[in-house]
Amino acid sequence: MSAQVIDGKALAEKIREELKGRVAKLQQEKGVTPGLAVIIVGENPASVVYVRNKEKGCQDVGFNSRVIRLPESTTQAELLEQIELLNNDKDMHGILVQLPLPAHMDDLAVIEAISPTKDVDGFSLLSTGSLMVGSEGFVPCTPKGCIALIESTGTSIQGKDAVVIGRSNIVGKPAAMLLLQKSATVTVTHSKTANLKEVCARADIIVAAIGKSEFVTADMVKPGAVVIDVGINRGDDGKIRGDVKYDEVAEVAGFITPVPGGVGPMTITMLLENTVEAAERYGC
Ligand code: GUN
Repeated sequence: MSAQVIDGKALAEKIREELKGRVAKLQQEKGVTPGLAVIIVGENPASVVYVRNKEKGCQDVGFNSRVIRLPESTTQAELLEQIELLNNDKDMHGILVQLPLPAHMDDLAVIEAISPTKDVDGFSLLSTGSLMVGSEGFVPCTPKGCIALIESTGTSIQGKDAVVIGRSNIVGKPAAMLLLQKSATVTVTHSKTANLKEVCARADIIVAAIGKSEFVTADMVKPGAVVIDVGINRGDDGKIRGDVKYDEVAEVAGFITPVPGGVGPMTITMLLENTVEAAERYGC
């Protein structure tokens, strides 16, 4: 293997230590302890695990955390009422509604009900627009973590060819926007892209977020490229694999994130960072 492994767990730990310092400062100077409220509707098994990990993350850095578990049968109006209560709750600086929501709910209407000052997921229209024009808002956690992972290698993003594979609102599009802000030349590819292999093989930086197990193969990667794997795909054998065929791509890439242990730990840590930011900006 020639690539250096980017250790997301170690980077996340380092950032959490910094966050603990910011929490202590907030407590001392303003008497504020950051608080994160997470709402989960139903019992999607992956969501249950994610929410548990978010709760643990909050405990780890000394936040107040609240998890509101609602049954699948909850109406959208009932969910909006819960959000309104949290919007008015001074102890909660961040609100996250775990996605996916049940089919009878309108995701965007629910996200838009969250106060923009508490939108620590960065999914609201205001946060999305702020990211587009580079003004102050909340940056979605997974793409924010991808940028931190790339920069942790010492690679300068400016002037690089970056290819994002996948165009989701949660990862692909905001990742492209962040790379553009850092002055990369960005190509966003997706399932309909022609010549995907050739496009990827020109990239200095690849962010793979297509949700297809082991989609990125060695022949799609330029020697020395930085490869960030956002995928979490559970195979029939129960094993988790990323969107990158790790063993063969690691022979070619300069840097690569593992799955698990790459992007995953950073996503939750960026959520904690956004919550500290919310408390610093708007906590009184
Ligand atoms: N479901 C999967 N990832 C996420 C995330 O980052 N935020 C929310 N709210 N739901 C998710």
